[in-house]
Amino acid sequence: RRDLLMLGIETSCDDTAAAVVRGDGEILSQVIASQSDLLVKWGGVAPKMAEEAHALAIDKVVQKALDDANVSEGDLSAVAVTVGPGLSLCLRVGVHKARKIAKVFGLPIVGVHHMEAHALVSRLVKKDLDYPFLALLISGGHNLLVLAQNLGEYVQLGTTIDDAIGEAYDKSARWLGLDIRKGGGPALEELALEGDPKSINFRVPMRQHKDCNFSYAGLKTQVRLATESRNMCTDDIPISSATEEDRQLRANIAASFQRVAVLHLEDRCQRAVEWALKMEPSIKNFVVSGGVASNQYVRARLNHIAEKNGLQLVSPPPSLCTDNGVMIAWTGIEHFVAGRFEDPPPADEPDDMQ
Ligand code: KG4
Ligand code: ZN
Repeated sequence: RRDLLMLGIETSCDDTAAAVVRGDGEILSQVIASQSDLLVKWGGVAPKMAEEAHALAIDKVVQKALDDANVSEGDLSAVAVTVGPGLSLCLRVGVHKARKIAKVFGLPIVGVHHMEAHALVSRLVKKDLDYPFLALLISGGHNLLVLAQNLGEYVQLGTTIDDAIGEAYDKSARWLGLDIRKGGGPALEELALEGDPKSINFRVPMRQHKDCNFSYAGLKTQVRLATESRNMCTDDIPISSATEEDRQLRANIAASFQRVAVLHLEDRCQRAVEWALKMEPSIKNFVVSGGVASNQYVRARLNHIAEKNGLQLVSPPPSLCTDNGVMIAWTGIEHFVAGRFEDPPPADEPDDMQ
């Protein structure tokens, strides 16, 4: 597998990312262009703007990934690209680029599911991570508990019935007036360190539902009400101009939110571990991945759940938890090795965006 070279391209949301990974898991390059300025300006991901930003960045990002890895297109074994889920306008930019390279150089293409990639990158990080394993995938758009039985064989144990936890972090960070250029999640995590997590009694969602699903819309509303009732209307007053008392209040809201948001994860994960062990008693690992998994508090609390149940927590380093090209390349490798790929596009395929 050392001879295998995979280019991975990811454009499903607001980051344009590419990476070259070797078949044995060696990361040869990793490039990300983020649209954080656009995020601040538009208050979220505006699909048309994001598409334009991807289109502007894609050639440079891919070229840099190849250059940094010291390879040219002709050295590649195949090209892996995210085909979903995500914003279709954005996905198209990556898919188009991948097809173009594949056509010119006669390379196979591996279409990759973004959430599968979040889960499987854990097998790059921990080489002896075997199936079956339990995975919690937490990002801006998804909140999934999955039992991975084999490559391509997943049993969904739970999902969100409304928002994902990352969305709750992002909105709360805005309402708290935080500087979200580096992302709402990291900003809120930082502020929460200054707050008292028990100062505000937010309700833990769905305690009466004895399943593994999630709900974050209600908690989001509770945060909104907390900021409003304190007459903060904080997104107008950035935290940098807040009084000391106001800052403490915001930190208390952040810490209390984080505690309850993660308590909800803990509840559902404990139940999912029990379900998963009943279905597959040989499970040894609990994978936690996706952007929110780069949060230290989240990792610590879920590590506790894993240990309590005799499992090992496997959580990729933060740079591989948030969206990246490595996870796409690696998942491409897993499928490619298993014989799951598409032939190169025909040389006479028109080059325009379909
Ligand atoms: O996986 P990801 O990069 O993109 C999606 O597939 O959505 O996840 C992005 C999400 C955002 O909501 C971001 O605020 C959140 O992950 N996130 C965090 C942290 N870092 C990123 N949430 C909490 N704490 C963090 N440190
Ligand atoms: Zn993601």
